[in-house]
Parts: sequence; structure tokens; C-alpha cells
Amino acid sequence: MTPPSPPPASPTGSDDLKPPPAWHAGRHLLSVTDLGAEGIEEVLRVSDAFVEVASRPIPKVPALRGRTVVTLFAEESTRTRLSFETAAKRLSADVLSFSLASSSVKKGESLRDTVETVAAMGVDAFVVRHSSAGAAAQVARWVDAAVINAGDGWHEHPTQALLDCYTIRQVLAERAGRAVSDVGVKDFVGLRVAIVGDIAHSRVARSGVLALSALGAEVTLVAPGSLVPPSLEGWPVTGVSHDLDAVLPHVDVCYLLRLQTERGAGSFLPSIREYTADYGLTARRAGLLAEGALVMHPGPMNRGVEIADEVADLPRSLVLRQVANGVAVRMAVLFLLLGQVVGGDAAGVVADLGHGPAGDG
Ligand code: CP
Repeated sequence: MTPPSPPPASPTGSDDLKPPPAWHAGRHLLSVTDLGAEGIEEVLRVSDAFVEVASRPIPKVPALRGRTVVTLFAEESTRTRLSFETAAKRLSADVLSFSLASSSVKKGESLRDTVETVAAMGVDAFVVRHSSAGAAAQVARWVDAAVINAGDGWHEHPTQALLDCYTIRQVLAERAGRAVSDVGVKDFVGLRVAIVGDIAHSRVARSGVLALSALGAEVTLVAPGSLVPPSLEGWPVTGVSHDLDAVLPHVDVCYLLRLQTERGAGSFLPSIREYTADYGLTARRAGLLAEGALVMHPGPMNRGVEIADEVADLPRSLVLRQVANGVAVRMAVLFLLLGQVVGGDAAGVVADLGHGPAGDG
């Protein structure tokens, strides 16, 4: 196992900025609160370098050659799992894809024994998804490897929030005719975001609120009372509304959540049809959005429930751009946790990794 990297001395190499907190020296990303605004900004800045890598004919760098990343998923996933695996491979790490459903857990092995068994094979990072809140934090107590929370129950999904912030920043930069690297934390201040839907069951909502509010955005939750958490302690939101039509004209970003029927969301509603009538982003409702307002969704989408088919495919809908940016953002997270950044600028190190092929598989 390689010891943790020392933190970059300064985000930009200039002395007028304070160095970011060394969240990656803690070796894990379990919650957005591990990062704070400076940590989020650092991930976004390093992601810029990996977006550039993605545009190369061979989008691969040798940064994590010799490292091993395990994706340990105990719950279904398309985007998160594949983008973490793509990210690790583009960093030249070896990737082990581990599904609990087809493992010896089915023969009665405990999660702890399973994790320790995989760790014994020589693993540098575990990417963990589990239906129980706190599962990734528990894995972090059992192993020496870095642990990244890829979604734990209703709790958090920090890399989803990071890729969402990255995508907003990218669009803000394009609209202002600025380089994305010139858009920093201050550009989020006062940004009005509505997070709409099944807040109560959503780890995406919690991580999104924490990240966006840390950057200075004003977040309003919009949902029926039965899908708002009973307590909003620890949710730094500007307000809660039950009237989507009234909120839509005043937001810069409308962030829709999937109705999580597998977590019982349906039983909190009179009917799905009624939910769509009151809280679905229909074509009529999309017409209430201000010109330039963005529509986002973490996926998977329930077309026709929280988002109308035609709205999901509008130019203002960033759904697939969010997915694309997820690879670069997860490369940044893996790089910051596992890469060697000695005495300086992580983004500079990435840029210096060379523009040619990585040289091996
Ligand atoms: N957004 C998200 O986490 O999607 P998956 O469940 O497909 O990973």
C-alpha cells in the first residue's frame, strides 16, 4: 500500500491563495462534508485536466499505473459503476469489479470477511455502493485502502454532487465565454437551485444540498410534505416549497430526483399519477422556466413520472453531459486519493502527464 499523498501546496501555485484542506490525506471520500468548499473547488479544478485528457485520441494517462481499484457494489448501478471503472482504467489502474450478489456472501460470508478477503489481495481503493447508510464508512474502518462512497442508502452520494457542480460550472463558463478553469466558487454564490421530488429517500439530494450550499448557491427543496425528511437539521437549504409552478420561474437550475419506488416512495403518495400532476416537470411546466435555466437529473430517469419524455431531451437538459463529466470527476477523485502529488499543483501534475498513449493496457 502506498502512503497517502501530501496535499498540494497551493491550488494554483500562487502564494496568495491558502492551501486547501488535505481532505485526500484522510484517504477517503465518504461525505461532501469531508471536502468543504475548498476541497470541492480542488476536485473541480483537477477535473478540468481530466476533461482535457478525455478529448485526446487515446484518453488515458499512466497516473495510477500499478494501483488496484475495486468497485464493490451491493446495489444496482449503471452510471456510477461504469464511470468509476472507466475512470480507473483511464488512469491505468487495475480494476476489479466485485458484485456482492454473485459473491460468497451468498454462501453466508459476512461483509467484513468479504471486504477483508478482497483487501488481502492488495487493493489501493474500494469504491463502495450499499443500500445501508454508513456502509462505506464501515468499510473504511476495516481496511487500510482508500474508500470512496458511491452511494450508501439514503445517506450520501458525494461524487454525484461533484459531477453536478462540475457540470453547472462548465455551463456557466460557456455562457460567460470564459475558460472553465476561470470559474470558481464565487460564481456559484446566489445561484438559485430547486431540487425537486423524492428528497426523503435521496442520497443525491443530501450530497447536492451540502455541495451547492457550501459553494454559496441557494437551494430550495420542492416536494410533497410526505417526501420531505421529517427533520431538515443538517440540510442547509434556503427553503421548502410544495408549489413547483411558483418556484420554476425563479430558478437557474431545476434538479429533478427519481421517485425511489424501490425504497417505498410510492407508499408516501396517493398515486404516481397525482405525483406527476403536481411535481413532474411536464412540457407545460418546463415552459415556466426562465430562458437559460438548466434541467438536471442524476439518472436513472423515470420518463413520464418526474420528467416528461420531451423535457428530458431538451437542449437545456444536461442529463448526458452530467454522465460524461462523471468520468473526469471520478478520475480526479481517484487521482487525488491515490496519485502522488508531491509539493504542488495536482492539476499541473496531470497536465504534465504527457499527451501520448499511456504505453500499457
Ligand atoms: N446517478 C446514479 O447514481 O446512477 P446509477 O445508480 O446508475 O449509478
